[in-house]
Amino acid sequence: MRRYVIIFILVLVSTFLVHTWLMSIGLFPTEASAQSIAVDQLFHVHLWLISFLFSLIMVTLMYSLIVFHRRKDEIGDGAYLTGNSTLEITWTAIPLVAVLVLAYAGAKTLGAIRVIDPTALQVKVTAGQWYWQYAYPDYGVTSTDLYLPVQVQIDLQMTSVDVIHSFWVPEFRVKQDIIPGRSVDLRVTPILIGKYKVRCSELCGLRHAYMEGAVYVVSQTDFAKWISQQQSAAPPSPELRGQQLATSYGCTNCHSIDGSPKTGPTWLHLYGASVKLSDGTSVTADDNYIKTSIINPNLQIVSGFPANTMPDFSQVLDQTMVEALLAYIKTLK
Ligand code: CUA
Repeated sequence: MRRYVIIFILVLVSTFLVHTWLMSIGLFPTEASAQSIAVDQLFHVHLWLISFLFSLIMVTLMYSLIVFHRRKDEIGDGAYLTGNSTLEITWTAIPLVAVLVLAYAGAKTLGAIRVIDPTALQVKVTAGQWYWQYAYPDYGVTSTDLYLPVQVQIDLQMTSVDVIHSFWVPEFRVKQDIIPGRSVDLRVTPILIGKYKVRCSELCGLRHAYMEGAVYVVSQTDFAKWISQQQSAAPPSPELRGQQLATSYGCTNCHSIDGSPKTGPTWLHLYGASVKLSDGTSVTADDNYIKTSIINPNLQIVSGFPANTMPDFSQVLDQTMVEALLAYIKTLK
C-alpha cells in the first residue's frame, strides 16, 4: 500500500512538471479567432492527459527498476502470474471511457467552430498554383491580400482552379482543403487585430512551400476605410484591370506577353492572328475565340500544346473579368 501511495504522489508531481514544461515551450501560436479558443481548450485537455500518461508509465517504470531490481543474493525465479481479470477489465474500461468522453468533447468543439452567423461577411477565396486571390462580392472588390474586420464572422467560400490546396492560418487554428470544381465553406471570426500569414497546407506542386499570403485583421472602421480605398482605386480602364487580373490569377505564369515560350501560347501578337489548331484547322483569334479559350480552354487546342493543361476558370472569372482580359490581350501588339 505504501508503494502505491508513493507512486501516486510521484505521478502527480511529474504530471504537473511535464505539463508546466509543455506549456512553457510555446506550442501554440497566438489565439486570433473565436474558433481558436474552442480548439485550444480541447488541446489543453489533451496536454493534461499526455502529461499524465507519460508520467504514469515513466514513474512506474523507473520506480520498478530501482525498487524491484534483483539483489545480490537473489537467485530464484519471480512469482509465476497467469492472468489478472480485474486488471484487464480495468485497463480496458478506463481507456474506453476516456475515448468516449474525448469523442463527445471533440464533437462539441466541432459544433462550436462551425456555428453559422447569417450576417457573416462573404469572402470568395480562389486558390491556384501558386497564389491566393480574394473577392468581396458585397463590395465589388478583389484583392491579393486578405483583409478582415475584427469581431465579425467571415464566411470564406473557397474554390481552386487547378489542384487541391488547403487554407490555413495557424493563429485561426481552423484549416480547410480546397477542392477544384467545388465551393467549400470555412467560418472564422477574427478576434485579434494584427498581421498574419495564410499558408497552403496541401502539397500542390513545385512552389507549394511558397504559397503564402498576407492576412490583415483590422478594426471595423479601418476595414470600411480599406474597402472604400479599394473601390475608388479601381482601375479606370478594362485594359489595366485585365493586366492586373492576368498577374493575380497567374495567367502570365503560363502565357508570356513578350513572345517567349512558356507552358501555353504567348499572348504577344495574338489578337487578330491566325491560329493553327491541333486538328489541322485554323481560326482567327477574334473576341469570340479568346473569350471561349479562357472559359473553355480544351475546346480548341492550339497546335503544339497539350490539352487539359490550363486550369478551369469558369467558376472564378465573371463576364466583366473575361472582357477585361480580352481588352488587355488586344493591347499586346
Ligand atoms: Cu497550394 Cu500547396
